Amino acid sequence: MSVKLSPSLLSADFGAFAAAARLCEEAGAEYLHFDIMDGLFVPNLTFGAPLVEALRPRSRAVFDVHLMIVQPERYIETFAAAGADIITVHAEATTHLQRTLAQIREAGAKAGLALNPATPLNALDHVLDEIDLLLVMTVNPGFGGQKFIPATLAKIAAARQLLDAAGRPVELEVDGGIGPQNAAQVVAAGANVLVAGSSLFSHPDGPAAGIRALRQAVSREQIL
Ligand code: DX5
Ligand code: ZN
Repeated sequence: MSVKLSPSLLSADFGAFAAAARLCEEAGAEYLHFDIMDGLFVPNLTFGAPLVEALRPRSRAVFDVHLMIVQPERYIETFAAAGADIITVHAEATTHLQRTLAQIREAGAKAGLALNPATPLNALDHVLDEIDLLLVMTVNPGFGGQKFIPATLAKIAAARQLLDAAGRPVELEVDGGIGPQNAAQVVAAGANVLVAGSSLFSHPDGPAAGIRALRQAVSREQIL
C-alpha cells in the first residue's frame, strides 16, 4: 500500500480554509483531514459539517472526517451528505459500535474506527469486517501540536499484523505529532495514511513545503 498524506485543517488559518485546502491538494496530498470536536468528548471545539460542505466543491481530495464527538451516530448522515468520503468514529464515543460503523457504510461513506492511545487493539476484534480504515491515535485527541506518544509505535506494528492476518484491505492511519522526524518510523511500523497538522502548517515555507518534507522523510524509509 502506498503512503498517503492527510493534512489536518485544524492547524490551518481558520480564516482561509479554502486556500489551505487548495495548497495541500496542489502539493499532492491525497486526503484532507477534518477534525470535528464537540467540547465534550474532547475539551476543544472546532467546526462542523458546514465546513465540509463548503469545501467539497473546491477540492477533489478524499475528505477524511475524524469525529471526536460523543454519540457520533447522531451526525453520520449529515457528514455523508456534506461530502465526507471517510467518516471515522471513536470506539470510546459510541455505545453500539457495530451499528454505528454499519450506519456509516449505509450512508455511502467508508467507515473508520479510531482508538485513543490507551484503548487496546482488541476493540477491533468483533468489528474488523465493518471497517475500511483503522485510526491509531498517536496523541490523546483534542489539540494540534502535541507530542507523539512513543508507546503507540508498538501498537501500530501490532495493528498492521492484525490487519494483514485478516487479509482485508483496511487502511492504517496515524494521527498526532507526526512530522519528518518520525514519519519513517510510523511507516516502517505499518502505517499507510499519515495525518499531519502543525508539522505542515508551521513549516516556514508553507504547507506545500511541509508536505514535500514529509514525503521525503517517508521515501527515505521506503528506499531503505
Ligand atoms: C488531534 C487531531 C489531529 C491533529 C493533528 O486531536 O485529531 O488530527 O490535528 O495535529 P498535529 O499533527 O499537530 O499533531
Ligand atoms: Zn484527527
